[in-house]
Amino acid sequence: MRPFNENLLKFIDASPTPFHAVGQMVIVLESKGFKKLDECGVWDLVDGENYYVTRNDSSIIAFTYPPELEKGYTIIGAHTDSPHLRLKPNPVTKSAGIIRLGVEVYGGALLNPWFDRDLSLAGRIVYLDVDGVRREKIIDVKRPIALIASLAIHLDREANSSRSINAQTDIVPMIGCGEEFDFESWILKEARESNGKLLAHELSFYDTQKGSFIGIHEEFIAHARLDNLLSCYVGLQALIDSNYPMMIACMDHEEVGSDSHVGAGGTFLEETLRRIAGENFTTLMRRSLMVSCDNAHAQHPNFPTKHESQHAPLLNRGVAIKINANQRYATSSRTMGRFVQCAQSIGVVTQTFVTRSDMGCGSTIGPITSARLGIETIDVGVPTLGMHSIRELAGTEDGYGLFKILLQLGEY
Ligand code: CO
Repeated sequence: MRPFNENLLKFIDASPTPFHAVGQMVIVLESKGFKKLDECGVWDLVDGENYYVTRNDSSIIAFTYPPELEKGYTIIGAHTDSPHLRLKPNPVTKSAGIIRLGVEVYGGALLNPWFDRDLSLAGRIVYLDVDGVRREKIIDVKRPIALIASLAIHLDREANSSRSINAQTDIVPMIGCGEEFDFESWILKEARESNGKLLAHELSFYDTQKGSFIGIHEEFIAHARLDNLLSCYVGLQALIDSNYPMMIACMDHEEVGSDSHVGAGGTFLEETLRRIAGENFTTLMRRSLMVSCDNAHAQHPNFPTKHESQHAPLLNRGVAIKINANQRYATSSRTMGRFVQCAQSIGVVTQTFVTRSDMGCGSTIGPITSARLGIETIDVGVPTLGMHSIRELAGTEDGYGLFKILLQLGEY
C-alpha cells in the first residue's frame, strides 16, 4: 500500500493539468505494451492486444481487447480536470508597481486556499515555429513564479469574520516588478521556443507544493487534485493488473459540466465503444458495468452536522458508494449489490454516502455516461476532505481498497 500511495503522489506531482495527467498515463500504458490508436485512422484491433486513444490530449480511454460479449467490459470512469485559476488570453496588468496575470476561475474552486501559495504555470501553447509551421507544446514552468498575497489583517479587521473574495479583483497572481512585461516572449522562452510566435495558450496556475503523507502514523495523504487524479490513478493501476475485460475513461471538463467534445457529455466514449463493438454495441452496453469513480465528501470533524450520521463517509473506512434518489448519482440497487458482494468477498470495507435531504447534491460523470450509453452504473469515490481546495486530504487506505475491488469486480 505504501508504494501504491507514493506513486500516486508522484503521479499528481507530475500532473498539474489534464494534458500532463494524460501524458503521464500514456507513459505508463506504453511501458505496459498498450498500443496507441488514432481517432482519424482505421482500427484493426487484434485479440489479446491492449489499446489507448486520446482526444485533445486531455481525455484518454484505454482498454483491453476483446471485450467478452457474455460479461461485457468493466468501465472505470474518472475525470482529469480539477478546479483552478486559468490564465486569461491577454493577462498582463500592473498595479502598485507589481505586474500581475489575470485569471478566470475554472470550475467550483474554493478560492481562499489560493492565497499565499507558491504558484507555477502549466498547460498548452500553440505557436508558429521559425519556419511558420503551427505547433503545439505542453509545458510546465515548474518553479514558483507567482503568488496571490493576502490583504494584511491590519488593513481589514473583519478579515476573520466576514472577508469574501471578488474573483475579478482579489485573486490576481503577482509575478514581478518593473515597467514592462512581454508575456509572449517570456512564455515562448519558458517553452524553449524563443524564435516562435505565440498564437494561443491554455495555461493554469497550480501550487508547487508536492504531495505529502500526513498524520502521526501517516494515515492521510495531502495533495492538490486528489479529486480526481486519485481515481484516474486507481483506475489505471486496476486496468494494468486486471485479468478480465476492462476499460478506463478519464475525461476532461467534468468540473465545468462535461458538455464539450472531450467531456463525458461529448461523443468520445460512445464513438470509441461503437468502433470496438460494431453491431454488438447494444449487447456490449447492456452487459457492461460503468464504475464512475469520483471522490466523495468525507465527514469533517469540525463540521460534523454537514452530513447525516447514517451516511457520512469517514477517512480510512473504505470507498463510499454514492446514492441519490433523484439520479444525481447513477447507483442502483443492482449495481450496488454487485459492488458490495465483491468487496465483502475479498474483505474490503465500503461505506454509503447520501447527501442530507435539506442540502443540494453534487453530480459526477456517472449519470451522464449512464444516460448516453444505456449502461448500468455505480457511483463511488474515495472519502476526501477539503474538496476543491488547492490541497485536499484523503486516507491512505481507501484508494488501495478501491483498487482491490476494481481488480475483482469483473468476476461478480
Ligand atoms: Co470530482
